[in-house]
Amino acid sequence: MLNKKIAELLNDQINKELYSAYLYLDFANYYADEGLDGFAHWYEVQAQEERDHAFMIRRYLINNGIRVQFKAIAMPDKTLQNHLAPLEAGYEHEQYVTSLITAIYHEAFEQKDYKTMQFLDWFIKEQGEEETNAEDMIKKMKLFGTDAKGLYALNQELAARTYAPSATGPAM
Ligand code: FEO
Repeated sequence: MLNKKIAELLNDQINKELYSAYLYLDFANYYADEGLDGFAHWYEVQAQEERDHAFMIRRYLINNGIRVQFKAIAMPDKTLQNHLAPLEAGYEHEQYVTSLITAIYHEAFEQKDYKTMQFLDWFIKEQGEEETNAEDMIKKMKLFGTDAKGLYALNQELAARTYAPSATGPAM
């Protein structure tokens, strides 16, 4: 049985991950409306990955005998005024998610809950990758996105992202 506080934090994290999926779909909506289908596609794939994260945490709680309880998912509230805005908002959001995962990890450490720490290791690594990806996209956009040809090429590049459910998920 998991410690009550850790179970609550993980239960809340399901909501945050589903919100992340919702937020990234909102970015995809914005880019689709702007005619940038590659950017829209990239965020659709990202939303699928976030949904997977929510499922993984839900499964971990169920496997540990916890009754999962859902709460309302917040409305995406980022202001998207130009093509760079979602990328910057995405990076900021991933940094926030990293802080949440780190806080749960810290609580697990305090409670000597090595099982949850092991489960969260995967998420710590994933957050590192997601922050790097988000930062890279901002860099590329600033370098190439201000010119129509560069933006076209970037859109093509992002259109090539494929969704692959994680073969090696977290330790359950
Ligand atoms: Fe699942 Fe990007 O946090």
